[in-house]
Amino acid sequence: MVTRDPFWQGKKVFLTGHTGFMGSWLALWLTELGAGITGFSLKPPTDPNLFELARVGDGLSSIIGDVRDCPAFSRALMESGPEIVFHLAAQPLVRRSYQDPVETYASNVMGTVHLLEAVRRTPQTRAVVVVTSDKCYENREWFWGYREDEAMGGYDPYSSSKGCAELVVSAMRRSFFNPADYSKHRVATATARAGNAIGGGDWSADRLIPDMAKNLLAGKATVIRSPRAVRPWQHVLEPIQGYLTLAKKLFLEGPAYAEGWNFGPADSDARPVSYIADRVTRLWGDGASWRLDAGEHPHEAHYLKLDCSKSMTRLGWSPRWDLDTALKKTAEWYKTYSVRPEGMREFTLQQIADYAGARL
Ligand SMILES: NC(=O)c1ccc[n+]([C@@H]2O[C@H](COP(=O)([O-])OP(=O)(O)OC[C@H]3O[C@@H](n4cnc5c(N)ncnc54)[C@H](O)[C@@H]3O)[C@@H](O)[C@H]2O)c1
Repeated sequence: MVTRDPFWQGKKVFLTGHTGFMGSWLALWLTELGAGITGFSLKPPTDPNLFELARVGDGLSSIIGDVRDCPAFSRALMESGPEIVFHLAAQPLVRRSYQDPVETYASNVMGTVHLLEAVRRTPQTRAVVVVTSDKCYENREWFWGYREDEAMGGYDPYSSSKGCAELVVSAMRRSFFNPADYSKHRVATATARAGNAIGGGDWSADRLIPDMAKNLLAGKATVIRSPRAVRPWQHVLEPIQGYLTLAKKLFLEGPAYAEGWNFGPADSDARPVSYIADRVTRLWGDGASWRLDAGEHPHEAHYLKLDCSKSMTRLGWSPRWDLDTALKKTAEWYKTYSVRPEGMREFTLQQIADYAGARL
């Protein structure tokens, strides 16, 4: 039997990016936990998308708006008066950031400034989780994992925008939400840095699993750009479990947790792109295949791993599904979608329940 954590029952939550891939999974999980959610973001970024397929909007109050529009964004947050905020809205793609660096920095950096400025004016808010990325670190192509206190950086506009968002949160925290003055402001702000999230319902351009899913459904071979690039792959529910754990700690224990946190997979699940492509191809069957794209591509990091010792020790968080399970769950999701797209809300909720087990 599933027991629900009573902490979330009736909590007022503000979630940006609720129409996106990760935001939809988080919104569904929060809905199951009984939270009252207001979502704020642009329309779903792809067609199809998980937000519409799983009818995510049924369980929350959805506002379509732009985090670059400071007055509208502030008004929405202040009027909803949340106790807990999750900030996921962003332009999340490396390749698109090369095509449109201005949009990327405006949404990812100024969007974060606008968020924290609005939080300053919202007396009910106690906990803020800003989602950045494993790419926020200055990548030295090391073989070991980055720790939370390592230098921010980023070669491409997306990665750098996430490093900048980290610096924004750090400066705003020191200036306005300083842990030393917690009794005056009562706001705890933290950042969360996850690896490459995989799972059903992602149709983003230039991401491995969505590219493969689209091609497999169309019966075409997938063209792979960087088969040797190593990434920390994990099911989308792993970092989401981390965001929920962190938000609860911030809410209940405040400044002790107001800092940056890594949420990545076990070391053995940092694998090359070719491994994932082979595994997905085998899981899918039906003559699925991939081939190498030998063309020229913009720079992307070759090697990226996270050290998650701090989250495991201090938050008690740890990954629950290994990479093989994550890939199986993802393949099952897209296969089910291919035969019964109208059943994806129930199917997605079932995967959340399978993941959460007795700890939902
Ligand atoms: N998917 C991953 O592997 C991964 C890994 C680490 C971090 N992240 C971060 O997680 C967050 C969610 O990523 P995702 O994979 O779900 O991406 P996504 O593209 O599926 O969703 C992005 C969401 O942000 C919204 N958005 C974009 N620009 C906006 C703007 N200017 N104003 C308001 N809303 C805007 C979109 O409408 C959508 O709801 C992002 O911050 C991303 O950087 C993702």
